[in-house]
Amino acid sequence: MKYLSSEKFLIKMLLKKLSELSILKICLKISRIFYNNNFSNISILILKILEKISLNNFYIQVEFSQVYKKIKDSKNLIKTYDKAISFTKGHQKNEIIFMALSDSYNFLKNKKLYDKYFNLLYPKIIKKNKNLFPIVIKFSVNDILNIDKDIHSYRKLNPYNSYSYHGHHNIYQSEHDIFKKKKFKNYSTHLKTKYIEKIFFKILKYKSNVKFKKMWFVVTKKSGSMKRHNHPDGHFSGVFYYRVPKVKASGFLKIYNPMKNINLFEVKGNTILKNKFTSSDLVLKPKKNDVFLFSSFLMHSVDNGEDINIDRISVPFDFILM
Ligand SMILES: [Fe+2]
Repeated sequence: MKYLSSEKFLIKMLLKKLSELSILKICLKISRIFYNNNFSNISILILKILEKISLNNFYIQVEFSQVYKKIKDSKNLIKTYDKAISFTKGHQKNEIIFMALSDSYNFLKNKKLYDKYFNLLYPKIIKKNKNLFPIVIKFSVNDILNIDKDIHSYRKLNPYNSYSYHGHHNIYQSEHDIFKKKKFKNYSTHLKTKYIEKIFFKILKYKSNVKFKKMWFVVTKKSGSMKRHNHPDGHFSGVFYYRVPKVKASGFLKIYNPMKNINLFEVKGNTILKNKFTSSDLVLKPKKNDVFLFSSFLMHSVDNGEDINIDRISVPFDFILM
């Protein structure tokens, strides 16, 4: 029965993908095949022809950026980002500025460019406190609501979803909108008003409203892992550890620190300890009820080790400060 639902889901996904394919997307996919196989010159030629046909196209510029990144052509990479920033609007503009910021910080490690895109991406209150970024904040919750039943019924109703084949190993992810669902709403509001907003008020000395953009839950089975990534949809991202197996090597969160400048805040009751973290990787070992918040452009990964005995449940989220 389970096998049949999986097959049906795959067919549905395949039909959806086919209907989404336009000629431009097919050409971009062909270009990607070339640069993935080290024929970047052919890829650049295809993209230049496409650019002549479809001037000021977001997707073409994104593809250009991937090629230039692959061949480590930083001059053209930055030119591409600046060009795309000049003609995009709304969500696409934010997306491209985020990519430029992420590459300046994680890939080029260029302070001047990092500053430039940081100022373009963030609202006043974050720009004003720029010396606090990139930021990682650790705290624990002591009164979180029980969501066992809700997670169980959600999984039963949605055994497969658009994140089922996302390339992460041995992991179930819900859709990324659970903060909008009635069953999880109390829980997300509680986390936001009782903890996150208060902590940001203490650190930034400014009353900001937190607006969730995404929230989901992740059930990690034995040896599950999550490859290196960052989160383009928020100013900040976080993860709440709802259930953590009591074993030595379970689900360390590794946050990469390429420019060796992470500000690490540990909130304990009314006190906040601040440290500058200057080593290359910050490895955080979560306990039940811990929350880690971090600048969304920081790259991070999760590796569970082999000795996990029960499923680990975490609730990641992305949010912006208003
Ligand atoms: Fe993540």
